[in-house]
Amino acid sequence: MGSPLGTPDRIEETGRAVQRMFAAVAPRYDFLNHLLSLGLDVRWRYAASRALQGALAQPRLLVLDVCCGTGDLALALAQHAAGRVVAADFCLPMLERARHKAKRSGKLPITLLAANALTLPFPDNSVDVITSAFGFRNLANYALGLREMWRVLRPSGTLAILEFSRVRWPVFGPIFRAYSAHVLPRIGTWISGVKGPYQYLHDSVKRFPDQEGLAQQLVAAGFVSVRYQNYLGGVAALHLGLKPGAAPETECGRASS
Ligand SMILES: C[S@@+](CC[C@H](N)C(=O)[O-])C[C@H]1O[C@@H](n2cnc3c(N)ncnc32)[C@H](O)[C@@H]1O
Repeated sequence: MGSPLGTPDRIEETGRAVQRMFAAVAPRYDFLNHLLSLGLDVRWRYAASRALQGALAQPRLLVLDVCCGTGDLALALAQHAAGRVVAADFCLPMLERARHKAKRSGKLPITLLAANALTLPFPDNSVDVITSAFGFRNLANYALGLREMWRVLRPSGTLAILEFSRVRWPVFGPIFRAYSAHVLPRIGTWISGVKGPYQYLHDSVKRFPDQEGLAQQLVAAGFVSVRYQNYLGGVAALHLGLKPGAAPETECGRASS
């Protein structure tokens, strides 16, 4: 299964390149995210945390947000979670920003952890909910990422992946693709002052599986009740799946917004 920068046999090298890239953009990451998405990224993370409200309501649960970056999804999840939210990333400058934000919010509602999503420092079957927002696409190997999330999720635990996807609206689709190919890399490069990451953003989204493709990868990894929800016609999509508990059941569905 696809790797953004390298091949499955070059996982460490790819990981280091991804780490360096996010370290370089960390100072401007949040500002550019909000600018380039016109603030919609905030709404999508909030919508994702709301979609998980049921799963988050169980007492004493452990939520793990992988590829947490500057912590926005983890902080949104912490508002709904009845238990502990751990936010993990392998890029320290991104985590440092998450720490500042969590501190600014008054208390530290999340626990920050420096960890690689491909080798999570958690025992098997120990996490109730695993989430990732705009991070999964950057993993060096998607199958390994899903296998690791599967390993640490407890039976009946929930996986939620929020990622860029394919726009399904007829007129908006070509306009958005032109924006993403020509405008977004230029503005991103100009404001961040770093050449490369915002072209990479466009290229990695283009290479990333579409809604059905990602749903199939979740099913292939063993997740059940796999479904997804489009945001803004598919600019982003939230995929949900369960690790089977006692009675597995498989389903691929669609709900658009
Ligand atoms: C596009 S940012 C997303 C950050 C955040 N989740 C958000 O919603 O804005 C991708 C993040 O994934 C992290 N990342 C990529 N590969 C990783 C890996 N193998 N292990 C841990 N973090 C990883 C990067 O360091 C970066 O902070």
